[in-house]
Amino acid sequence: MKRIEENPLLIIAVLLFSFMLLQSCGGVPEESTKEMSSNNVFSVSEVLEMVSKENDVTRTLYTKAIVGKGKAQGMKFDEDWRKDDVEAGPLPALFLRGVATSIKKGPVPLGLYLGSDFPVNAANKFEGKQADLFKKIKKDQEPQFFYDEDQELHTAMFADLASAAACVTCHNKHPQTTKDDWVLGDVMGATTWQYPKDSLSYKETVDVLNSYAKGTVDIYVQYLEEIKAFKESEKPSIGDKWPAEGKYLPTPEVFLDSVRKLSSYETMKKLIAAKD
Ligand code: HEC
Repeated sequence: MKRIEENPLLIIAVLLFSFMLLQSCGGVPEESTKEMSSNNVFSVSEVLEMVSKENDVTRTLYTKAIVGKGKAQGMKFDEDWRKDDVEAGPLPALFLRGVATSIKKGPVPLGLYLGSDFPVNAANKFEGKQADLFKKIKKDQEPQFFYDEDQELHTAMFADLASAAACVTCHNKHPQTTKDDWVLGDVMGATTWQYPKDSLSYKETVDVLNSYAKGTVDIYVQYLEEIKAFKESEKPSIGDKWPAEGKYLPTPEVFLDSVRKLSSYETMKKLIAAKD
């Protein structure tokens, strides 16, 4: 697996992001930087909302531009994609699980889980408090925030919408599906995010966002490594083109760059607005 240090574009993105943060504070002297980082400036719900937005963008991009368009080029995506005899890429839900696994391995105490009331995989069925709150989310699509007493974790749940035709067709015809009449726009599930503290400093907030970005790069790199080991299937060429143009896949840098273009402006506006 490639590490973040080997990924020059990711480092540049992180540096640029940090630099812009610093600029937004008017080139602060060292003392106030220290003070700023010791002050917790964001509530946990604000931060989980930011990272959930980044996730929406990444997930839609992966589902539409890689899985949707890739399938049209004959590329395969499978729940057993990691098995040696299966030559395929990760399904969107498993891409997300890959991100969650990568975050878990790192130092940032951020938890991520994708569940539903009618899951394909029984292990993804919401239970207890999360099942109750998911009923509300289904009605109004509003996020839900609560403190999980048992796990001692601040928890936020966000609707996971059928944002692409691929979501609906695949779930409806899956052999293990528990519901076969999903339609575009449905709340198919929710992402649950958890964090142990009720407020975060700038640094902790940027750490959360970066651990998510690093997670997406990690799982994407694993997918590209899987392709390298293909024996039977045609291997897409990896560069700056996307499956929309043919049998191509973007490099991790190109993929992350698109995510950043689509999402970080919104996140940055929030980071800056909270400072004023
Ligand atoms: C090509 C098939 C396929 C596509 C496309 C797909 N999914 Fe899934 N999805 C699955 C499978 C299979 C699982 C179960 C994975 C696992 O083992 O956890 C799953 C899991 C999920 C879950 C967790 C609950 C469950 O059903 O197990 C949600 C929520 C979900 N998908 C929503 C979506 C959304 C929203 C999209 C589009 C943005 C999407 N899926 C696209 C096949 C697909």
